[in-house]
Amino acid sequence: MKSKKVGIIGVGAVGATAAYTLSMMGTCHEIILFDIVPGVAKGKAIDIAQASYYAPQGTIVNAVENLEDVKDCDIVVITAGVPRKDGMTREDLLLINAKIIKDVTTTIMQNSPETIIISVSNPLDVMTYVISQITKWDRNRIIGMAGALDGARMAYQIQKKTGYSARQTGSLVIGDHGENMIPLPQKVSVGDIPLVDLISKEDMLDIIDKTKNGGAQIVKELGTSGYYAPGRAIAHMVEAILNDSKTIVASSTILDGEYGYKDVCVGVPVVLGANGVEQIIELNLDDELKTKFDQSVKSIQDGINILKDNKFL
Ligand code: NAI
Ligand code: 2OP
Repeated sequence: MKSKKVGIIGVGAVGATAAYTLSMMGTCHEIILFDIVPGVAKGKAIDIAQASYYAPQGTIVNAVENLEDVKDCDIVVITAGVPRKDGMTREDLLLINAKIIKDVTTTIMQNSPETIIISVSNPLDVMTYVISQITKWDRNRIIGMAGALDGARMAYQIQKKTGYSARQTGSLVIGDHGENMIPLPQKVSVGDIPLVDLISKEDMLDIIDKTKNGGAQIVKELGTSGYYAPGRAIAHMVEAILNDSKTIVASSTILDGEYGYKDVCVGVPVVLGANGVEQIIELNLDDELKTKFDQSVKSIQDGINILKDNKFL
């Protein structure tokens, strides 16, 4: 059987946690790490490889000094980027990260031409769009990680509200990975019981609010954004693809008429399997949700238009 190789570009907090999680799960045969800062990938690769001695299944963890050496991967995860610094506008950040993603993607295309790319860097939906525009690959091979994380954050809020195990809680968050995300607790069940039959409307609204602020809450407490849940969410998607498990995970994907949109990446439920996004599931959205979805798509299109206005795309 062909070995399963996962590349991770940008071994900061999220990239390293994804690598560590994958090695603990034993999902792939080899993980290959690259970071622009010398020593970072190598130091973390050694540390993670030593930790994997205690994992149920061995995983080879290697670092490379040149991006060109991240090659022949089945999946490449892009977690490279810079955080927003003092005096930097959102637009500045968008252009800086888009340039990083463009450069990285161009090299990935040459060295892992058959790979599936999981995009993670923010702003997530716009960066996923950039990757799809640069590669021009079939859309099934470019997947943005957002719903996997935001869904876990929603399940956490449901668990806190009900006291019932989060493991039996469905999760569904669509739209952008930002201020206009749309948590849908009204569409999930706990066990086989619809959540709407378990909690009040006020509690439902509170879950929506807290899910939307899930990332910000961590930043407030920790001074930096989360990485354990993002790392685990990435691993969940990698596992679904490598195991061809046909798992439904909300993910950012380029739409081609679904939900009434084309040429934009946005979070919707998709089926993940060996071919990446194997199916896009169209939910029935009532008028209120449709309006929210439209607003969410518009916020992503605004980001894409900034790139177009700056002749980036
Ligand atoms: P971080 O700052 O800890 O790590 C980023 C890493 O990227 C750094 O080690 C940096 O040296 C590296 N890097 C920068 N330019 C590079 C290049 N050209 N090639 C290779 N490596 C490069 O940031 P963190 O917390 O790990 O987050 C990474 C990205 O993921 C950010 O854009 C963040 O906003 C995003 N994120 C997205 C989530 C999602 O749900 N989609 C969740 C959490 C984070
Ligand atoms: C998060 O949601 C920053 O996208 C990152 O935590």
